[in-house]
Amino acid sequence: MRKKIVAGNWKMNLTFDEGQKLTTEIVNMYKDENIKDVTVVLNPPFVHLFPVKKLVGDTPNLFLGGQNCSDKASGAFTGETSAPMLKSFGATYVIIGHSERREYFNESNELLTAKVKQALENGLTPIFCCGEPLEIREAGTHEDYVKNQLTESLFGLSDEDFAKIVIAYEPIWAIGTGKTASSDQAQEMHKALRDHLASKYGQEAADNTSILYGGSCNPGNAKDIFSKADVDGGLIGGASLKSRDFVDIIKSF
Ligand code: G3P
Repeated sequence: MRKKIVAGNWKMNLTFDEGQKLTTEIVNMYKDENIKDVTVVLNPPFVHLFPVKKLVGDTPNLFLGGQNCSDKASGAFTGETSAPMLKSFGATYVIIGHSERREYFNESNELLTAKVKQALENGLTPIFCCGEPLEIREAGTHEDYVKNQLTESLFGLSDEDFAKIVIAYEPIWAIGTGKTASSDQAQEMHKALRDHLASKYGQEAADNTSILYGGSCNPGNAKDIFSKADVDGGLIGGASLKSRDFVDIIKSF
């Protein structure tokens, strides 16, 4: 049975005090509202990891993740953060290949393969992002485009390593725009990706892979999107910065 997962990608937001306030609110709501059966991941900027982990503690099913990791384990790479560092600060997940990193930091499918391997070697669960730009969606080639992202970055993994991967489908045209994909659009792509995974790793492995939706997900649309057969949760941006909205999304299954 694949996991239901809701991950909050804070992106480059929140001062120390704001991060502590948000985390405290989320942890308290999470405990007071008795949330079960959903894996929740907080993905703050690196500088927040230690203080956020201290607040999260050992709260069941509430985990910490990074927003990126280097393809190197250590060395002279100013400004970078490694998978071993993330692990040492209590992270167990890491977002890899977010469209903003692919675009602004020129992250290729090949580089992302190396990042995924670094994460796996250090016991982190990659949340591997994929998704098409608007022009590809409008051209009608979106399924092949996104399938290729998975093929080029993930299909060299062993069956054992692939089983550890979480996928996040984030149509770029829906990220931060308020223009959410419809639940049918999400289901169509998630099913196509699951079938693509099955073609390589078999149906059982594909059925056990959590595929999350990301892109203007909010408390008003999460229930409809999460109700779809091949949607297993969400990777949440803006709404993860508001404790009530984020917890309401978690409760949308
Ligand atoms: O990683 C999640 C993010 O890209 C989605 O952003 O603000 O549209 O929920 P947002």
